[in-house]
Amino acid sequence: MDSAASPLAAKTAMDTIQAVLPHYSNTHSYVHQSAKISTQALAWAHDTVLEFVGADPAVFTSIFTGAGTTAATNRVARGLRAARPEKDVVFVSSMEHHANDLPHRHPKVTLVHLPLSGTGAHAGTTDMAALEALCDEYKGRVNYLAVSAVSNVTGVSNPIAEICQLAHQHQILVLVDGAQCVTHMPTELDQWQPDFFAFSGHKAYTPCSPGVLVARKSVLQSLPEQDLGGGSVDTVGYFDYQLSSSYPEREQSGTPNIVGAIALASVLQELKTVGMDNVAAKESRK
Ligand SMILES: Cc1ncc(COP(=O)(O)O)c(C=O)c1O
Repeated sequence: MDSAASPLAAKTAMDTIQAVLPHYSNTHSYVHQSAKISTQALAWAHDTVLEFVGADPAVFTSIFTGAGTTAATNRVARGLRAARPEKDVVFVSSMEHHANDLPHRHPKVTLVHLPLSGTGAHAGTTDMAALEALCDEYKGRVNYLAVSAVSNVTGVSNPIAEICQLAHQHQILVLVDGAQCVTHMPTELDQWQPDFFAFSGHKAYTPCSPGVLVARKSVLQSLPEQDLGGGSVDTVGYFDYQLSSSYPEREQSGTPNIVGAIALASVLQELKTVGMDNVAAKESRK
């Protein structure tokens, strides 16, 4: 009954972890057979995540984060605050989990909570008319908007494609918290077109797995570098360094949670085989 917090582990996740562990090795190396397996399997995990959420790899990249959705939302908030300091307003929907509200609070930020629609078929979703009015009221000042695809409290889903379209018309970037949507409905970033999409591996039947941030590469490029370290640079001198020109390397420094990422990808692949349309249809059956 507590599966919104963390569902039980899928057998696929457990089988994948058992299959991968005998070949456990660090990545970015082709020195021995296990290193080749780890490196290729992690690259496959990155690709599988993008495919599962409908993100074009030419436009988006996937990053495995430390502490679930929370690490991803904090990273986006830090990056966008540093990149666009002249935009001092952030819109946050009124249905957010702490993970997609608290990271956006900052002494230099005016945080505006978006009202929810009170009536009709859209009751409990972000009020689009109110959002439009707020975009006009804070014209030119809004850095980004943070919103959940599906609420962890009510289960209500937001009209993400419409929200992104309206926000982008006002040069507002969009961060979508997908923690409660990825395993319940098809995730269609190709149609929704947010700038950032975050979710937690542990909410996708995969214990010991990382969080995920899917990010628009063109926006990432405009952010000051954050988590620097091994793997994210092409060259390093005593006084300078050159960031990697390829993704996800540029954003994925340090040794990631390799086994967890591969296990998560195997579960996403299984969900894809089941068909997220079928999952959504079954969940909405009366
Ligand atoms: C909608 C939503 N966002 C974010 C989170 C936080 O996830 P995590 O603890 O993996 O960062 C949760 C967890 O309940 C959630 O339901």
